[in-house]
Amino acid sequence: MTPVVSQPVEGALTHSAIFITLTVNQGADDLQKFRDLCGDLPSLIRAVSFRSPSAGLTCIVGLGADLWQRLETGATPAGLHPFREINGVHHAPSTPADVLFHIRASRTDFCFELAAEIMSRLEGAITLQDETQGFKFFDNRDLLGFVDGTENPAGLALTEAVLIGDEDAVFRGGSYVITQKYMHDLTAWKAMTVERQEQIIGRQKLSDIEFPDDKKASYAHNVLTNINDAEGNQLQILRDNMPFGSPSHKEFGTYFIGYSCEPERTERMLNNMFIGDPPGNYDRILDVSNAVTGCLFFVPSTEMVDAIAQ
Ligand code: HEM
Repeated sequence: MTPVVSQPVEGALTHSAIFITLTVNQGADDLQKFRDLCGDLPSLIRAVSFRSPSAGLTCIVGLGADLWQRLETGATPAGLHPFREINGVHHAPSTPADVLFHIRASRTDFCFELAAEIMSRLEGAITLQDETQGFKFFDNRDLLGFVDGTENPAGLALTEAVLIGDEDAVFRGGSYVITQKYMHDLTAWKAMTVERQEQIIGRQKLSDIEFPDDKKASYAHNVLTNINDAEGNQLQILRDNMPFGSPSHKEFGTYFIGYSCEPERTERMLNNMFIGDPPGNYDRILDVSNAVTGCLFFVPSTEMVDAIAQ
């Protein structure tokens, strides 16, 4: 079996992150510029990173379904399709995006510099859909005040959760990622008692200790997002959510980003949250938090990113 090198999807949560989503314009030159960037990306990362490797700079590139067809690489990854909007108790929109750049480092300047280099290479060839700069908030808390990321898988369970294996052999070592930008109504959230907030999340706010199963509400976030396969094994994803915002514009949010070896996992969690399980028993976070974007990308192995450049 030929070894493949995955993009660094298994990386840990960092101090800073920049999430850029964009569409590639329709001209053949525009597509070529994107191909060229795929070829240059490793050397750009090396150049920015070399100033201080301890900053742990990484950049993951994800590709949307429409762009994948335009690149004419041959086969299509089994789970690649545009993000499916959900019209449940709350609405999860599907928004356009051909490419995701998920840039992470322990220092904001490293993320900023790499984002600037990437965007300057793509100038004129793309339409920006969104740029969100995320930051670490105290002890990995979201802006709702709860620690976010505690139950992420680790070790072998992480690899199994996020990387495609022999079930889709051509795309082995790849991954899928779903992103959604959420805007919070912090005034409404803060008007709730801490006990009510804890019931909605399913954990204690200060200590981050999970409630015992028999004390969790049926609509708690950690009940609706806890899903199993037919044999009762838990199906996990990796979340690298980051807070973002602008206090002077009264903008407060969470950038949700979930990696998995099959997008169905994250889609099932989203259905449970937005429609409810059973329908109507939805996630109360959504009463105070509005999804404004929704995108799905395939994250090819580094060899495939190289091949796109040819
Ligand atoms: C757990 C926050 C959206 C999937 C958690 C936890 C918090 C949280 C505080 C508990 C600590 C932890 O284990 O990380 C948020 C916020 C969101 C959001 C603020 C957006 C406004 C989502 C979405 C998904 C998701 C869209 C999946 C589609 C999960 C999963 C867990 C979790 C799988 C672990 C559940 C378990 O205990 O097994 N989230 N989340 N979250 N969240 Fe979210």
